[in-house]
Amino acid sequence: MTFDKTILITGGAGFIGSHVVRLFVNTYPNYRIINFDKLTYAGNLENLSDVQGAENYVFVKGDIVSAAEVQKVFADFDITDVIHLAAESHVDRSIEGPMEFVMTNVVGTVNLLQAAKDQWKNNESHVFHHVSTDEVYGSLSDEGLFTEQTPYDPRSPYSASKASSDHFVRAYFHTYGLPVKLSNCSNNYGSHHFPEKLIPLMINNIRELKPLPVYGKGDNIRDWLWVEDHAKAIDVIFHKGEFGQSYNIGGLNEWKNIDLVFFLCRLMDEKLGRPAGESEKLITYVTDRKGHDMRYAIDASKLASELGWKPSITFEEGLESTVDWYLSNSEWVEQITSGAYRAYYENMYQNR
Ligand code: NAD
Ligand code: DAU
Repeated sequence: MTFDKTILITGGAGFIGSHVVRLFVNTYPNYRIINFDKLTYAGNLENLSDVQGAENYVFVKGDIVSAAEVQKVFADFDITDVIHLAAESHVDRSIEGPMEFVMTNVVGTVNLLQAAKDQWKNNESHVFHHVSTDEVYGSLSDEGLFTEQTPYDPRSPYSASKASSDHFVRAYFHTYGLPVKLSNCSNNYGSHHFPEKLIPLMINNIRELKPLPVYGKGDNIRDWLWVEDHAKAIDVIFHKGEFGQSYNIGGLNEWKNIDLVFFLCRLMDEKLGRPAGESEKLITYVTDRKGHDMRYAIDASKLASELGWKPSITFEEGLESTVDWYLSNSEWVEQITSGAYRAYYENMYQNR
């Protein structure tokens, strides 16, 4: 079988990556999708059990920090395009150990850029789409939104590593003409989200009647987007975005952490048939995250006006479907949270 493109998707076994792989495998039978993933604690092939047998899907276990492994996958599969999601993604872990973030997020990205530069002869016929975060812009006070013109001001080791990777992507565009596109997205939520992150952690702890650790006073604000809408935005930018351009992705959906936790408690009391107010009793205020960014909020009007993307569902709809997914996939959660992760979690929260 011949394919029109062979796309290397890095980090395809992770949360967002698995949604992007599924979307591309199912929507584009004419593309061959190579999922390149190291399967760290955050990567799980169970996330993709539904596409595993597809003719246009291949999984390759590999590490983007190894230049040799990256060069090899480019050569073995004659890679025509890249959608780069592999990363260390959790801010709290970056505070505990920044070096892993430098290696994966910075060195790993440069290895991919270099392999694409070496392999691709005619830049116009390829795309290198780098998936990044709104955290590169820093932290907002009460007013304003992040636009593509907002100066970079990363404040955690995670966001500093992502900002650095964005700079390298732009440097390869300006210096070598590599055909890059970038996207910077707000906080995602949805199915297959690793339960160290706020929403799946709260869902899981509410279900198990465990304490709900809210950092500081819970008044930090995040701007939430359903992961499948992020995947669709990546599809649109990959196909229609301009080379060298960056696109902010977000759904104008700001929530204070504590309001979101109360909302989840109420929703889950209903779903689990608990008396109203039962789960709220689990809320526990804990020591704040070091350097905790106060507010993120994305202006995605460039993506909407130039490429016609908009979110497909409301936050209330998305949260309900997410809660339903977690409640009916307790084996997935059990598999993920057993072993090394349970020890990490217990140690982390004992120290808060
Ligand atoms: P995740 O932690 O769920 O998944 C990361 C994946 O990358 C895992 O499958 C892991 O095994 C893989 N990986 C890690 N190190 C690797 C290496 N050295 N080589 C190969 N694979 C490796 O992350 P996520 O939340 O799905 O985020 C994906 C991307 O999207 C990241 O680049 C992140 O910065 C970005 N992003 C995330 C969000 C969010 O809310 N989660 C928002 C905006 C942007
Ligand atoms: O904005 C995009 C970013 O969103 C992505 O680039 C990151 O990869 C992703 O992890 C996410 O980062 P955050 O730090 O915003 O997400 P997290 O789920 O860790 O935390 C969300 C908010 O909830 C934040 O203000 C910290 C707070 N929090 C988090 C946890 C895990 C709590 O109060 N308690 C918790 O236990």
